[in-house]
Amino acid sequence: MNSLHTSSPSGLPPGLPRIAVLATGGTIAGEAGDAAKTSGYKAGVVGVDKLLDAVPSLSQVARIHAEQVASIDSKDMTPTLWATLCARVNALLALDDIDGVVITHGTDTLEETAYLLHLTVKSDKPVVLTAAMRPSTALSADGPLNLLNAVTVAASKASWKQGALVAFNNQIHSGRDVVKTSTYAVDAFRSPEGGALGWVQDGQLEYQRTVVRPHTLQTPFQIAADLPTVEIVASYAGVSRVAVDALVAAGVKGLVIAGTGNGSIHSTLQQAVADAAKQGVVVVRSSRVGSGHVMRNGAAPDDTLGSVTAGSLNPYKSRVLLMLALAAGTPPKYMQSVFDTY
Ligand code: SIN
Repeated sequence: MNSLHTSSPSGLPPGLPRIAVLATGGTIAGEAGDAAKTSGYKAGVVGVDKLLDAVPSLSQVARIHAEQVASIDSKDMTPTLWATLCARVNALLALDDIDGVVITHGTDTLEETAYLLHLTVKSDKPVVLTAAMRPSTALSADGPLNLLNAVTVAASKASWKQGALVAFNNQIHSGRDVVKTSTYAVDAFRSPEGGALGWVQDGQLEYQRTVVRPHTLQTPFQIAADLPTVEIVASYAGVSRVAVDALVAAGVKGLVIAGTGNGSIHSTLQQAVADAAKQGVVVVRSSRVGSGHVMRNGAAPDDTLGSVTAGSLNPYKSRVLLMLALAAGTPPKYMQSVFDTY
């Protein structure tokens, strides 16, 4: 559905920015039979027009063009939908009369989609993701204010050239760094190493730091629906090498190890990783800890194992970068420099 939402009457000042809102589903579009219920609801069922109707003051911030790109629980996100979404974002941002894009998304895989768009959108204009922890029918639903703030961020000139952003709970995060850190709290999103980029409140916003690593127009990456297969395997007490061996036999192109601590790998798994790398599988060493960096040749001998270290990317974001880098034809010997750069 493509609709010019009626909350932007034609009598509005011509200078008001034009923002495209692309809805994909999630809890922000969730519905429960009981307003007191914040779990056990159905995600991704409320349409974009109804989401916009819940925020009448949007018409003071921007002229809205709305599209329903998908209606899913984001746990079911796929590379095919990523490709559709990214193509639509790029097409809209290429239009002179679109000043920015807002994407409503589920919280569960938002950190993956945000990083993917950060690396593959080809525009300096703002692309801002937002979501909600409580369904639209809940008492104190957080979606409407998050949506208003996301449109405020997308409508601001200060948000240009920052890559994909996430506006959530009055904070603005970089799509590279942001992660979900709570199963229920409305301040579920954090950027564990650098912190939020800034804040947004009551129509005002401020950036307190900028994005340093290259993104959007500065990357060679493009999303395709048939991204190379990359899987994630965790290291833990008593882990066997069965999963790694099965994945290698199945023909995976890349493996991300969610290691313990500083990306350390159980000795049993470490041998499997070395064997996988010898067979041409690109292995990235990340950490399951949730914050901090994985140091090259620190908790495991990468030069001997043939592995690449993820730096501050968690396993899920590491997988996104590895798929894109493999799709771009990056030779294995340059993969560490890709992870050091992006
Ligand atoms: C989802 O990710 O689509 C469901 C959970 C949420 O949005 O909080």
